[in-house]
Formats: sequence, C-alpha cells, structure tokens
Amino acid sequence: MKKISEVLGTKYPVIQGGMANIATGEFAAACSEAGALGMIATGGLDPEGLRREIQIAKERTKQPFGVNIMLMHPAADEFAKIVVEMGVKFVTTGAGNPAKYMKMWKDAGIKVMPVVAAPILARKLASIGADAIIAEGSESGGHIGEMSTMTLVPQVVDTVDVPVIAAGGIADKRQVKAAFALGASGVQIGTCLLVSEECPIHENYKQALLKAKGTDAVVTGRIGGTPVRVLKNQMTRNYIQAEKKGATLEELEKFTLGSLRKAVFDGDTKTGSLMSGQTCGQLTSIRPVKEILSDLFEC
Ligand SMILES: Cc1cc2nc3c(=O)[nH]c(=O)nc-3n(C[C@H](O)[C@H](O)[C@H](O)COP(=O)(O)O)c2cc1C
Repeated sequence: MKKISEVLGTKYPVIQGGMANIATGEFAAACSEAGALGMIATGGLDPEGLRREIQIAKERTKQPFGVNIMLMHPAADEFAKIVVEMGVKFVTTGAGNPAKYMKMWKDAGIKVMPVVAAPILARKLASIGADAIIAEGSESGGHIGEMSTMTLVPQVVDTVDVPVIAAGGIADKRQVKAAFALGASGVQIGTCLLVSEECPIHENYKQALLKAKGTDAVVTGRIGGTPVRVLKNQMTRNYIQAEKKGATLEELEKFTLGSLRKAVFDGDTKTGSLMSGQTCGQLTSIRPVKEILSDLFEC
C-alpha cells in the first residue's frame, strides 16, 4: 500500500477540508504554505470563479494544493474539466460518487481522494482508482452522514487497500493520535481552521465559534435526509421547529437559502448558517494556521 507521504507530499499528513464560500485560493495557499494540503472549495463558485481562485493559489504558493469538487453543484462537470486544464494535482470530492470523472482525472495524473461517510462507497471508489479515502464522521461541520469518526474510520480501513484520512472531530493532538490508532494515516480538518487568522470568515462567525460549547453544534435536516451540522441560533431553531411540524423541503429551503453566505460575509449570527463541527467546544483563540498545525503534531 502507498504511504500517505507519497500521496500528499506535504510537511504534515493533513488536508485542509474544502469549505464552501470560505476556502478561497488565498486561504488554500496559506494552508499549503503552513504545511497542510490546502484545498479550494467549489461551493459558492462558478466556473470563472474557480479558474480565478486556482490562479490565485498558484501565484501564492509553490507547495501542493488542490480543489474540492462538490458533486451536487450544477457546474460539477465543468469544474471536473477545469482542474485538468489548469494542471491541478489533487482533487477531493464531496456529496456523491465521482466515478464518472475518475478516468479523466487519473489520465491527467491527478490524485483523487473522495470524501465518504460509509464503508461501502469507500470500497467502490478504491476499486476504481481513488488514491486515498477521506472517511468523514458525523462530528464534522457541514453536511454529515450517519456514522461517527470512531466507528467509520476502522470500518473503512478494513475495507480498502489505500491510505485512509480521518475527518470529523479532530482539533488537537489527542484526536490526531486517536485517528492514527483507528488506522488512519492522515487527517482532514475544517472547524479548527475557521478560527485561524488567515480564514476569511466574518469576525462575528469566529467569535461565535470561540463562545460555542460542543453541544451547540446541532443538526438541521435530519428528517428531510440532508443533515447539516451548524451552530445553534435563530435559524436552526426555526428550521428544526418547522421540520418537526412536517414542513416541505421547499419551505425549509427558505431558512437555508444563502444562509452560509450571510454568516461568512455579513457576520449574521442570527439567521446565518454558522456551519461548525463539535470541536467548536475546544476552540479558545484565533491563531495562525501554522501554529494550529504544529500543535496537532507536537509530541
Ligand atoms: C464551514 C464548513 C464548510 C464545509 N464545506 C464543505 C464543502 O464545501 N465540501 C466538502 O467536501 N466538505 C465541506 N466541509 C467539511 C470539511 O471539508 C471537513 O471534512 C470537516 O470540516 C472536518 O471535520 P471538522 O469540522 O470536525 O474538522 C465543510 C465544513 C465546514 C466546517
């Protein structure tokens, strides 16, 4: 089996998780410069925007970086071609099965690391050429699956013969060690990077994360089948109440439409969607990415 260092080629075995509307070319480059694999998120971008962000990352770093492709995005087919055209070396995928792009990406020499929430999809994707599997447990921020990192990671490790990267619930060195004990050979982090100095979210969002307890990271959309972990606020209360009363998906969409942008750009902590994992309860200060990463691996 390939070693994780052969797959990533970074100082630390860490991927900065793609984060829609947040992980810009500039942020990804900052994470790569600090020793992680920086990832540009496609959520919130159009094809022109993705080209621009890749160009920015190329100008800001000579370290490896990649692109996270949200497979549900209406422009996913175009994004899939742009990463090839622009010589991107790493792709992670979220929310689905990237099988139809696999041959094109592998022919272009791209390393592909799908994010999965279930062992069965991991096995399928490893068998068609995934270079590593990112197993993301439900402690994580954003869209989540059913299984926790504790149960998902070992089951994926036992299912595939490529390196496994654990995601969800990792924000300090104890959790990195736990991920390795479960058989992972790298980690992907999101929530703890939201409170980095370089992260381009509104200051109100960062302060809300610093104040939050682990139990404040609740899940909306459980009933409708699109669970998303976010910080509890007016929006989540309204959403969950309406959901319990049997609101239709269309009615529920009114609460979430554009709500991540409201949180990220306007700092609206009441009606915005402050996506966050359960590690929010561990965050105590705003620090440079470099310090966050070195603390994860300090002996
Ligand atoms: C604000 C936010 C936005 C996210 N957006 C995406 C996304 O666009 N694509 C994706 O694959 N994962 C997304 N994720 C998941 C992260 O990439 C990462 O896997 C996750 O944050 C790891 O768990 P943690 O939050 O416990 O560190 C997002 C997570 C957060 C917190």
